[in-house]
Amino acid sequence: MKFFIDSANTQLIGKFLDMNIVDGVTTNPSLLAKEGANPIDQAKKILKLVPGPVSIEVVATEYDKMVNEARSISKLGKNAVVKIPMTKEGMHAVHTLSQENIKINVTLIFSATQALIAAKAGATYVSPFVGRLDDIGQNGMELVRDILLIFKNYSIKTQTLVASVRHPIHLIEAAKLGADVATVPPDVLDRMFSHPLTDSGLKKFLDDWKTLEKQYGDVFKLPI
Ligand code: E4P
Repeated sequence: MKFFIDSANTQLIGKFLDMNIVDGVTTNPSLLAKEGANPIDQAKKILKLVPGPVSIEVVATEYDKMVNEARSISKLGKNAVVKIPMTKEGMHAVHTLSQENIKINVTLIFSATQALIAAKAGATYVSPFVGRLDDIGQNGMELVRDILLIFKNYSIKTQTLVASVRHPIHLIEAAKLGADVATVPPDVLDRMFSHPLTDSGLKKFLDDWKTLEKQYGDVFKLPI
C-alpha cells in the first residue's frame, strides 16, 4: 500500500520524504488555509519538493469553472493531480479532464455508488473518507471493503485512496483489505513508529552498554 501524506506543510512533508516512507501528498483547501501562505505558491513548493503525485483541489462548483481551475492546477507540475468533489458537475468535469489525460482524485466519497460513478467518469483515484463516516456512527472501512470488491469484480483500474485517516488501526485495516493508497496525517504517521516495548527495549540495551563502556571506553572510536 502506498502512503501519501495528508498535509500542506512543506517542513512536515520533507521530514517524511527523507525517510522514503511517503509516496505522494494530498492537500485540500482546509489544509492549505492552515498554512496561511498564497495557496498556489504553496502548491508549487510542494509539487517541487515531492517526486510523487500531489493532489490539489478545485474550489469552483460549476462545470466550466471547475474545468478551467483543473487545467490550471495540472499545469503547475507534472505530478499534479486535480481533486474534484463528488458532485454531478464534478463528474462531468472528470469525464472531460480524463480525456485530456489529467489525473483526477475524486474527493468526499461516502458511498460505494459514488465511487463507482467516479470510476466510470474517469477518476484516477477515489477517496473514501473513513474517519468522517466513523464520526457519524457508520463504518468507514466497510465502505473501503465494498469499493475494493466492486472494482475487483469489474477490473476497474481506478485506485482506492483511503482518506480521513484518524489512527494507525485505520491503516492496518486498509492494508489488510488491499487498498491501493492511504493518505495519512503527519501525527498519525508519527504514531506509526512507536511502541512502548521498543522504547523500554532500547533503554535496556543502552543501559547495559553503558556498563561495558565503563570498562572499555568508547569502543566505536576510530579506528576499530
Ligand atoms: C484527503 O484527501 C482528505 O482531504 C482528508 O483526508 C480529509 O481528512 P479529515 O476528515 O481529517 O479532514
